[in-house]
Amino acid sequence: MNNNIAIFLDIKSQKGWKHLSLGCASLIATLKSKSFGYVEVIEADNLAEIESRLSKLNYIYKSCKNLNLLIGVYIWSESIVSEILSNIRKNGFEGRIILGGPSVTYRDKHELQKIFPEADIFVKGYAEDVIYDILMSSDKLKISGVSYNNSKSKFEILTNIDICKLASPWLMDIIHLEENHTSINWETRRGCPYNCAYCQYHGNLHNNIHNKFDINRIKGEIDLFHLKNIGRISVVDPVFYPDKYSIEILEYFIRIGYRGKLCLHLRVELIKDDFIDLFNRLNTCLEIGLQTIFEEESNIINRKNDLVKFEKAIYELNKRCIDYEVSILYGLPGQTYNSFSKTIDFLKKNNVKKIRAFPLSIFPGTGLEKKMEEYKIKIDKKKLNIVVSTYSFSEEEYHIMENVALKINRKNYSEQ
Ligand SMILES: C[S@@+](CC[C@H](N)C(=O)[O-])C[C@H]1O[C@@H](n2cnc3c(N)ncnc32)[C@H](O)[C@@H]1O
Ligand code: SF4
Repeated sequence: MNNNIAIFLDIKSQKGWKHLSLGCASLIATLKSKSFGYVEVIEADNLAEIESRLSKLNYIYKSCKNLNLLIGVYIWSESIVSEILSNIRKNGFEGRIILGGPSVTYRDKHELQKIFPEADIFVKGYAEDVIYDILMSSDKLKISGVSYNNSKSKFEILTNIDICKLASPWLMDIIHLEENHTSINWETRRGCPYNCAYCQYHGNLHNNIHNKFDINRIKGEIDLFHLKNIGRISVVDPVFYPDKYSIEILEYFIRIGYRGKLCLHLRVELIKDDFIDLFNRLNTCLEIGLQTIFEEESNIINRKNDLVKFEKAIYELNKRCIDYEVSILYGLPGQTYNSFSKTIDFLKKNNVKKIRAFPLSIFPGTGLEKKMEEYKIKIDKKKLNIVVSTYSFSEEEYHIMENVALKINRKNYSEQ
């Protein structure tokens, strides 16, 4: 029996999602590229299945010297992870528990110790460049961004990472692609240069790093997706930034003749004419954030929109019949039912066909989380921290906005 095992727990947010998550797959690719070969993966969406599979692996590897359980935690999975950890410790799991992901990255150490007392190690930031060293040693190594639960050391810095050098989970077949696969999530860069006060991607998480992957890796992945005839590629980059790198990627898709759907997140002021021409030559679907048209609300969320540029870009997209949707938020401090309706009217006036209205959630570590008192923000903790009232609207008014949003979102689905 070998003595160093990493068990990755990949909790699915959507039932039936077939792929290993990108976060897990990227870590496994890194470990395999360093010849750390003893990896097990549990992919499941429910507590009973996760616990039964964990208990089997715990039995198989009980004599192993260095058994590690690794979990990426998100706001939607915090309570299930906390329950799993408490149950598996009660059932005799003695391995090390290593937690990372956004919920760890954006929370304070004392909060993490309270929510996950059973965990041994927390990793703040992208974990690829530190995970091998953590797994290979049973000592408490001093590594930037890595903290030990029972130590008193501060936990404010992030891991170091060089994204450009990361191994590809696609080219290493960690995420196995069947021919004609319908849909995948893909990344071309990490971090976002903007700083919207509600968003966890705010700012460039790791300053001074190259946040793009190696372009040759990207082109190799595109070749693979084309070869496997993947039907839909959802690019999960926080924002598809219009620089030379992105243009090279779009031009490469065009050059090889990829005909599947390519979905991208965009801010409308970033849509330049040369980009629109490239979208037009591909089968793109653009997800454009607007959030609100009102200055008071925009200032609070640190998200200014240039409405003249917005109207021009929408006109150009409509003229070319490029598929897109515009997302807006309800539950913003400063918002009222009246202002929410006016944002929707503005979009309708500009012939936006698909509007997606999201309820505002307060995520840990965001600018809005720090100003909850100032804006009298009340949240529903059972529903992903959705904002249900602020200084500008009551809970009754929230429900009216919610009904309008549900109607708009349903309309999109029925027209798809
Ligand atoms: C991936 S995000 C961002 C797209 C693009 N980066 C932008 O800023 O326009 C897509 C949409 O998710 C929604 N969203 C982001 N953060 C949210 C939050 N804290 N609560 C609710 N919805 C959120 C926003 O409507 C956003 O436009
Ligand atoms: S909402 Fe979009 S633009 Fe703003 S910080 Fe998040 S990803 Fe970046």
